[in-house]
Amino acid sequence: MILITGANGHLGGATIDFLLKKNPNLKIKALVRSEEKGKKLKNERIEFAVGDYLDYGSLVNAMKDVETLLLISSSTIGDRHAQHVNAIKAAKQAGVKHIVYTSVLKGSPGSKFTAANDHVKTENDLKSSGINYTIMRNTYYADFLPDIIGNAIESGVIYYSAGNAKINFAARRDMAEANAVVISDVTNHQNKIYEMTSGKAYTFTDIAEILSSITSKEIKYTDVPIEALKENIVKAGMPNEVAELMASIAESMKVGEFDYCDTALEKLLGRKPVDLKAFLKSVYQK
Ligand SMILES: NC(=O)c1ccc[n+]([C@@H]2O[C@H](COP(=O)([O-])OP(=O)(O)OC[C@H]3O[C@@H](n4cnc5c(N)ncnc54)[C@H](OP(=O)(O)O)[C@@H]3O)[C@@H](O)[C@H]2O)c1
Repeated sequence: MILITGANGHLGGATIDFLLKKNPNLKIKALVRSEEKGKKLKNERIEFAVGDYLDYGSLVNAMKDVETLLLISSSTIGDRHAQHVNAIKAAKQAGVKHIVYTSVLKGSPGSKFTAANDHVKTENDLKSSGINYTIMRNTYYADFLPDIIGNAIESGVIYYSAGNAKINFAARRDMAEANAVVISDVTNHQNKIYEMTSGKAYTFTDIAEILSSITSKEIKYTDVPIEALKENIVKAGMPNEVAELMASIAESMKVGEFDYCDTALEKLLGRKPVDLKAFLKSVYQK
C-alpha cells in the first residue's frame, strides 16, 4: 500500500493522477485533514485516512499496512520541521519501508530561503531514520511565476527582487509525474537524492523578454529592494510571516541559489521537462 500525504494539495493530487495512470492495479491511500476532503478524492482505487502532521496518533493509524510513503512537505510556516519529525517517527513505528520526501533544490544549510532549513533538518532525520528514502529536491514551481508577474502584462513592468540572477523554474506537474515514477519503482531509487530542475535557468530580464514576445507588448523588469518587496506583500494584505518567507525566496534567488540545472528530472520523466518558455506560453498566449 502507498500513502500520499498532502493529497488535496496541488503536488499530491497530481502525483495521485499520474500514479493511477501508470499503474492500473495500484491501490492508494490518501492522507487528508478532514472527512470532507477525503470524500472528494475517494474512488474505487483510492481510500483515504484522516490525519494531521501535528497529530502523531492519526499518522500511525494512517500508515498501517503502508509500505511506501510520499511525504509532501508541509505548507504551514513555523513548525514544519516538527511536523515532518512526527511523520517520520510514525512511519518508523508503523513499519513503512520507504519514504519519498519533497525537499528544496540543493538543500543547503546556509540558504537565504528561510524554509530551506526545515528541509535540511528533515533530510538529515530521514537519512538517520533507518528507513529507505528518496529525496526529491524540487526547484521553484513555474506555477508560482504568474503570481510574481502580477499585472505586468497590463502595466508593462515586472517588479521583483531577484537581481540579475538566473532561476530554474520547473512545472509542478512534471515534478508530480517524477514522484509517480519513483513511487512506482522505489527499489531503483533507494537512498537517492534528485535535484529536480528543468533544462534551463532564466533571469527576470529574460522572463520579461519572453512575455513581450508572447503578448506582443513591451514588458520590462525592474529590480526592487527586498525590503520594498516585503512591504508591498504586506500592503497586499498578506501576514508578516508570509511576507518574510516570500522575501527570503527572492533573496535566495538573487544570490543564485536557484541557478542550477540538473538532468535528474529529464531522466525520471524519459523526456525533456517543460521549459519555462513553453510554460509561459501555456499561461499567457491567447
Ligand atoms: N518548490 C516550490 O516552488 C514550492 C512552492 C510552494 C510550496 N512548496 C512545498 O511543496 C509542498 C507541496 O506543494 P503544493 O503546491 O502541493 O502545496 P499545497 O497545494 O498548498 O498543498 C499542501 C498540502 O499539505 C497539506 N498539509 C499542510 N499542513 C498539513 C498538516 N499539518 N498535516 C497534514 N497535511 C498538511 C495540505 O492539506 P490541506 O489540503 O488540508 O490544506 C495540502 O494538501 C508544499 O506544502 C510546500 O512545502 C514548494
